[in-house]
Amino acid sequence: GAPVEADISALKPGEKMVVEWRGKPVWIIRRTPEMLASLKATDPLLADPESKRSEQPEYVKGDARSIKPEYLVCIGICTHLGCSPSDKLAPGAEGGMGADWHGGFLCPCHGSQFDLAGRVLKSMPAPDNLPIPPHKYLSDSKILIG
Ligand code: FES
Repeated sequence: GAPVEADISALKPGEKMVVEWRGKPVWIIRRTPEMLASLKATDPLLADPESKRSEQPEYVKGDARSIKPEYLVCIGICTHLGCSPSDKLAPGAEGGMGADWHGGFLCPCHGSQFDLAGRVLKSMPAPDNLPIPPHKYLSDSKILIG
């Protein structure tokens, strides 16, 4: 499939947009400084905090799993059986992880939970973090996916 261009100029802090690439939903999430700061704190809760076995390009590093920390680009398909996690879990939300948890995603099919870098929590049905597709910045407001 051809690469897809995403215009992120209208994306506000804390928001998510979805673009389709190769028939898959690619999420682009603009993370606030608080969301980014929470990623380190969630490390102990995660199955693969450093994404050693999870699918991601080598130029994507660290807890943020991104080129620019502010923007997460990931494939919104659960690594268990392919449902689309879509519910954002706020701190204190039902099914959430308590005060240390600063939001993330819940797969409706079998309950796998992911943090704001698409990293899966321990002991979930999903074995791996959400994949990061190949991508690059064409400008400050345009990302090329694929
Ligand atoms: Fe997501 Fe099973 S498909 S938890």
